[in-house]
Amino acid sequence: MAKANQNYLKLPGSYLFSMIGKKIGEYQQQHPDADIIRLGIGDVTQPIAPAVIRALHEAVDEMGSPDTFRGYAPDLGYEFLRSVISRKDYRERGCDISAEEIFISDGAKCDCGNIQEIFDMENRIAVCDPVYPVYVDSNVMAGRTGAYDSEAGRFCDVIYMPCTEQNGFVPELPDQIPDLIYLCFPNNPTGAVMGKGMLQEWVDYARLHGSVILYDAAYEAYISDGEIPHSIYECEGARECAIEFRSFSKTAGFTGLRLGFTVVPKELKADGIALWPLWARRHGTKYNGAPYIIQRAGEAVYSDEGRRQVMGQVAYYMENARIIYEGLKEAGYTVSGGVNAPYIWLKTPGGMKSWEFFDALLERANVVGTPGSGFGPHGEHYFRLTAFGDRERTMEAVERIRRM
Ligand code: MLT
Repeated sequence: MAKANQNYLKLPGSYLFSMIGKKIGEYQQQHPDADIIRLGIGDVTQPIAPAVIRALHEAVDEMGSPDTFRGYAPDLGYEFLRSVISRKDYRERGCDISAEEIFISDGAKCDCGNIQEIFDMENRIAVCDPVYPVYVDSNVMAGRTGAYDSEAGRFCDVIYMPCTEQNGFVPELPDQIPDLIYLCFPNNPTGAVMGKGMLQEWVDYARLHGSVILYDAAYEAYISDGEIPHSIYECEGARECAIEFRSFSKTAGFTGLRLGFTVVPKELKADGIALWPLWARRHGTKYNGAPYIIQRAGEAVYSDEGRRQVMGQVAYYMENARIIYEGLKEAGYTVSGGVNAPYIWLKTPGGMKSWEFFDALLERANVVGTPGSGFGPHGEHYFRLTAFGDRERTMEAVERIRRM
């Protein structure tokens, strides 16, 4: 008899953003005239940059001609994209990452969820609390965690690293030694950043204990402070202990196009076994590559024109972040993030629970955000707003919240 993967049954409710989508749908059905402003899921609103659109059109035309038609993409991605990433994202920042160490994919979410497959089931994971739910949920599905403790809002056998106002939402090195450490900076959901000195401490810690850091740098394009590292490979020794994830979703508005990549250095080993061949094997077996036209679009992001245009979009969103941050601060909210990251993390007023505030905001202001508790128990009494909205709607949302 076929048996289902019972690990899935350990997961409470549905995926956070699906749950929010459902709640909005229900509210909209009951209030068809409500003009809802969505600052919940971090989905972009600005159209794809013209240089990227041009590259897409050209690539589509290539697909229509027998001389330039392409079938399956190379497993690990087209060389033209891997080499420009290696040069512009890494070598120009002093990071020694070769094109061969870059694996193109259809997004960082999939890679962050899939990476755990190349590690043993006995590995103990450590995650920030609050945390982007994909890291934990994908390990739950694989069976690498214990049961869900609904009282605590946590899974057994996972090391949770509290990120609080006291530690500036940056986790401390854990006492219990993890095998796999998930870090995301600039952080989703808190918008906090980690300085180079602190990140170097994590790298040293991982090397000392033989742990692997799974570093999600999906929001690196939003860093404005010159002292903040864009890549973990800016730290000495990171090639021996870290995998990095990057995304075109937030950098260049590809949430609908889908493109990302993962860096696995050749030196990186887990218990003496090189991880590059394992990830390459998985990619080759389970993936047929991101579409040619999308990879050409990704390449255009690195052209001078493309870079200028996408950085213009980043600046647009960061102005939204400033408007939200300052507007709410003036209104008396305790806010953080929003300076080197497109997320604003606010304390709910009057000690309200995160979901209570979600409901109040939806009902009284018709504004949607993300309840902090959806990211983990230390997110309780917090709330996340995204800066990825349209300018006018963002300003309107801030006004409505201030009037509440
Ligand atoms: C978020 O809102 O946290 C992200 O957009 C979700 C994602 O990238 O999957």
